[in-house]
Amino acid sequence: MKYIIGNWKMNLGVRESVALARASLLLLRGKKIAPQMVLCPSTIALSEVRKVVARSGVGLGAQNVAVEDQGAFTGEISARMLSEVGVTHVIIGHSERRHLFGETDELINGKIQKALEYNLIPILCVGETQEERENGQAKKVVTHQIVTALKNVRPKFSETFFIAYEPVWAIGTGETPTTQEIVEMHTHIQSVLGEIFPTAPSSAFAILYGGSVNGENAYAFLRESCVDGLLVGGASVKIHQLKDIVEAACKVLIAQA
Ligand code: PGA
Repeated sequence: MKYIIGNWKMNLGVRESVALARASLLLLRGKKIAPQMVLCPSTIALSEVRKVVARSGVGLGAQNVAVEDQGAFTGEISARMLSEVGVTHVIIGHSERRHLFGETDELINGKIQKALEYNLIPILCVGETQEERENGQAKKVVTHQIVTALKNVRPKFSETFFIAYEPVWAIGTGETPTTQEIVEMHTHIQSVLGEIFPTAPSSAFAILYGGSVNGENAYAFLRESCVDGLLVGGASVKIHQLKDIVEAACKVLIAQA
């Protein structure tokens, strides 16, 4: 399987989100072999987008979740609330949350535990900064992020748990690592996960790439067997780009069938 996850960030209001969700679903219509899609609108649009994706097989993702269950946490949204409106997935530890909102690996660990408690499928984002990359620390940083985020976490191996490798320097910049560099990091992530969960079946984790994915580069990334899918930001809100990305995934899946 290949996964295409759209992270719409803080870009669309409710009406625009509904329209984009409808258009995104149309891209899959009539396709016997197609990627699994998850759409992650802003919190305010979740309920309306859910009506569009209901019974379609397309997942509904939130972009964040509170670490607490409930209480005096102004502005936060709990896992229970997300699950109540039909959310299936949740992005956790996106680099924008880490860097702009000060999220730590420990907080991210708590959020993953909370998401799993409420049967939400986590999409854990990891990735090095430009500086860390230049210092040759990319693998070390990503290892630390994964090990800390997954401390005492017991995923249900019946559901795929997502890890998105998103180098910070590649997000929204138009720059990406080479395919070879992505393969190397994904292979590394696989081995880190294998050490943490030695008995996990191979379907337990899906490793996605994210960072300046577009209609032109998607095929080269998806063609790699260790790239289970893509976490797409900017291009996921441009329907023509998303169309090309979905078609790239279909092409890869058809070749594999
Ligand atoms: P981008 O964002 O595709 O716009 O680079 C990816 C992400 O932030 O998940």
